[in-house]
Amino acid sequence: MSTGRTTFTMIKPDAVKRNNIGPILAKMNEGGFRIVAMKYTRLTAEQAGKFYEIHKERPFYGELVAFMSSGPIVAAILEKDNAVEDFRTLIGATDPSKAAEGTIRRLFATSIGENAVHGSDSDENAIIEGNFFFSQLERF
Ligand code: RTP
Ligand code: MG
Repeated sequence: MSTGRTTFTMIKPDAVKRNNIGPILAKMNEGGFRIVAMKYTRLTAEQAGKFYEIHKERPFYGELVAFMSSGPIVAAILEKDNAVEDFRTLIGATDPSKAAEGTIRRLFATSIGENAVHGSDSDENAIIEGNFFFSQLERF
């Protein structure tokens, strides 16, 4: 169980292209998450590769880096008690066809690769990922 109060998320290029930024942010708010920091930006392939470096040896790494740099994303730090675990519950399983009813991925994702949102998998990674995008001056 995680004990941290923050997690990190991205609304991925597929969801941005489908005009789902607004509905996905609404789900995050309804889920009890407060926005600490947020930006609309686009990763270069090099930046996407660095962000997902833990998956470097996986067969889908090249595809993942190409996809994550294919268009703009929304990056955000979110706050709530038990943030990492509760946010993973809110977004649902990596594969949207296996994600629970009502979860963000079930509602807005189309495939295991293009799955609408990212959510940190540990308190430690939430800190690393938030620091990748945001300075202290950009947090409220
Ligand atoms: P994320 O890190 O983006 O929140 O996703 P996750 O924890 O649910 O899944 P993870 O295992 O960390 O995988 C990272 C992202 O890689 C893509 N992926 N593609 N084609 C495939 O089999 C495959 N498996 C994973 C997805 O975009 C996944 O979210
Ligand atoms: Mg992950």
